[in-house]
Amino acid sequence: MTRANLEIRPLTPTLGAEIHGVDLSHELDDETFADIKQALLDHLVVFLPDQRIGPAEQLDFARRFGAIEPPHPYFGVVEDQPEVTVIEQDGTPDSDYNDAWHTDVTFRAEPAMASILHAQIVPSSGGDTLWSSLYGPYEALSPSIRDMIEDKVATHDYYNSFGETVLKGPGGLEKLLDDVRRFPPVEHPVVRTHPETGRKGLFVNRVFTHRIKGMSWVESDHILRMLCEIAEHPNYQIRWHWRPYDLAIWDNRCTMHLATSDFTGHRLMHRITVLGDRPYH
Ligand code: OGA
Ligand code: MN
Repeated sequence: MTRANLEIRPLTPTLGAEIHGVDLSHELDDETFADIKQALLDHLVVFLPDQRIGPAEQLDFARRFGAIEPPHPYFGVVEDQPEVTVIEQDGTPDSDYNDAWHTDVTFRAEPAMASILHAQIVPSSGGDTLWSSLYGPYEALSPSIRDMIEDKVATHDYYNSFGETVLKGPGGLEKLLDDVRRFPPVEHPVVRTHPETGRKGLFVNRVFTHRIKGMSWVESDHILRMLCEIAEHPNYQIRWHWRPYDLAIWDNRCTMHLATSDFTGHRLMHRITVLGDRPYH
C-alpha cells in the first residue's frame, strides 16, 4: 500500500473541503488515513464523492477514527449491522426530518467526535445538508459577551428532542422512561476547547441544549438563542447537495448541521458515529 495522492479542495474559507484521489473500497494505508484525519481537523467537514462501499466497509473505515458508538436509542439500524444508523425519509409528511440545527448526540456525557454519513438514496433536487462552524461564531463574539459565557455550563437533554416523538411511538411511555433513565440530562461547557486543535468554539445547539446553569430561564433562553443565531449565520456555513455514494465526515466537536426538508421523495442515508471524549473548556 502506498500513500494516495490526495487532492483536497477547500469549499469555503470557513469550513468544508472535497477530498479526491481516495477509494474506500480498498484498505487505506496509515499515511493516507492521517491525511484525511488532518483534512477533517483543518476543514471540519470533508466530502469524499462517489465511494462505492457497503455498510461493512463504512464501518471498517469509521473504526480508524476510534471506537464506534453503540446503536442510537431512537433511529433505526441496518440489519445485522446495528452500529450503522439508518436516517430515512420515506416521502410521507410524518417522516423524521433532521431539519433543525444540532450537533449529534450531545445528550450523551461523551458525545460523538465524528459522524460519517454515506448517501444511499437521495432526491435529484433538495435534501441538501448544511454544516456550520462553531469556532468562527465564538471568535466573532465581542469581548464582554465572550467573558459572560466563557465559564458557563449548560444542560443537554435527550428528552428535549426525542421526548414527544418517543411518547407517541411504539413502546410509548415505557420506552421513554427507559431512554430517560439511560440518558438523564448531562452538563457540557458552553465554550468547548477542541481536544486536538486546541481551538475554542461554542458548544450549544437548539435541539439538545436545555438551560445554562446559574441563569434564570429568561436569561438562559435568550442567551442560548442569541448564540445559536450567531452560529447559524451563512458566513459560517457550507451546503452540500448529495449524489448517491457521497460520503461526508464531520467533526462534532466544532460543528452543527441540519438536513433540509424541502423534498417529498425517498431519501436514505447510513450514519456511523465515532465515540468522543468528555467536553471540557
Ligand atoms: C445525522 C443527520 C443529516 C442528513 O445523520 O446526524 O442529522 O443529511 N442527518 O441526513
Ligand atoms: Mn445529525
